[in-house]
Amino acid sequence: MSKAYNIALIPGDGTGPEALAEGVKVLEAVSGKHGFQFTFETFNIGGEHYKKTGETLTDEVMNALSGFDAIYLGAIGHPDVKPGILEKDILLKLRFHFDQYINLRPVKLYAGVETPLKDKRPEDIDFVVVRENTEGLYAGAGGVLKKGTPDEVAVQESINTRKGVERCIRYAFEYCRQRSGKKTLTLCGKTNVLTYAFDLWERAFYEVAVEYPDIKTDYAHVDAICMWMVKNPEWFDVIVTDNMFGDIITDLAAMIQGGMGIAAGANINPEGISMFEPIGGSAPKYTGKNIINPIAAISAGQILLDTIGEHEAALDVEKGVTTALRDDIKDVAAGKMGHGTDAVGDIIAGYVAGA
Ligand code: IPM
Ligand code: MN
Repeated sequence: MSKAYNIALIPGDGTGPEALAEGVKVLEAVSGKHGFQFTFETFNIGGEHYKKTGETLTDEVMNALSGFDAIYLGAIGHPDVKPGILEKDILLKLRFHFDQYINLRPVKLYAGVETPLKDKRPEDIDFVVVRENTEGLYAGAGGVLKKGTPDEVAVQESINTRKGVERCIRYAFEYCRQRSGKKTLTLCGKTNVLTYAFDLWERAFYEVAVEYPDIKTDYAHVDAICMWMVKNPEWFDVIVTDNMFGDIITDLAAMIQGGMGIAAGANINPEGISMFEPIGGSAPKYTGKNIINPIAAISAGQILLDTIGEHEAALDVEKGVTTALRDDIKDVAAGKMGHGTDAVGDIIAGYVAGA
């Protein structure tokens, strides 16, 4: 019997379902070719479901999800739901519950895609951000006193454990070693101000570095890295950073690679259940118009393939995406692709099946 993987689909809100459908189409095309199978089960979770039922993520759904090989997510976010609810009770809950301690975000300028950076070419923009995904400011430590009064106090603390920091750094070194890049790992922090948290990060970084003599190490403050990413993105190969800084710099990075329409991410637990997602939001204004770019979702599927060990299939998806961006897609922005969302999925699935 051929190998089969069980994938939980969370199409979510807005354009999430349309984009994810194309990702599934491409996964099916590539699995057929490589002789393995996917079975998909869809979970109705997100803003719409919350509005109808008041439920975000029940224990029952959590238990069910733990029986899958991976989770493939469209987008979570609804304009009628107060910010913070869906983010914390769905997206972050999934990341934390499944201990997906790596948020992997490849940043690559494909040929045929326009970057806002003058004079930068595909060979200049090709790096990966390894963002810590379960700690830092996202851990939810802190509280509020005297809320709504003039004496209100709000404290939100960044949690950095040696174990959490070290496992993230170690993953980044391993990733850098396996990647055919410049073999350079840059720690992005703020050692000049956050002298407790990033002192821990810095010590862990240089201690682990001793085990990786083949990897060059570098350090950049987070503010400076925003500058360098715009001015000299070609310096970067792999960047490792904490949760909050990783969140911020990967939005900047998504723009230099051409936009959210093609920016993919993965929430990885190397020993457990990982979750793959396009990093842009649910883009509600484009819902149902068949104009959203599905490539971010398709590329998230590529990372899924790589993570479950189907490397050749992942390479085929990457080739399909590369060819489509070079030859078929006019512009990566929603509504400007020259093709509908479903047609872009068909084009890439076609390349993948024939690759
Ligand atoms: C992301 C998103 C999330 C984050 C939000 C929606 C909670 O911005 O995946 O980058 O901050 O991590
Ligand atoms: Mn973000």
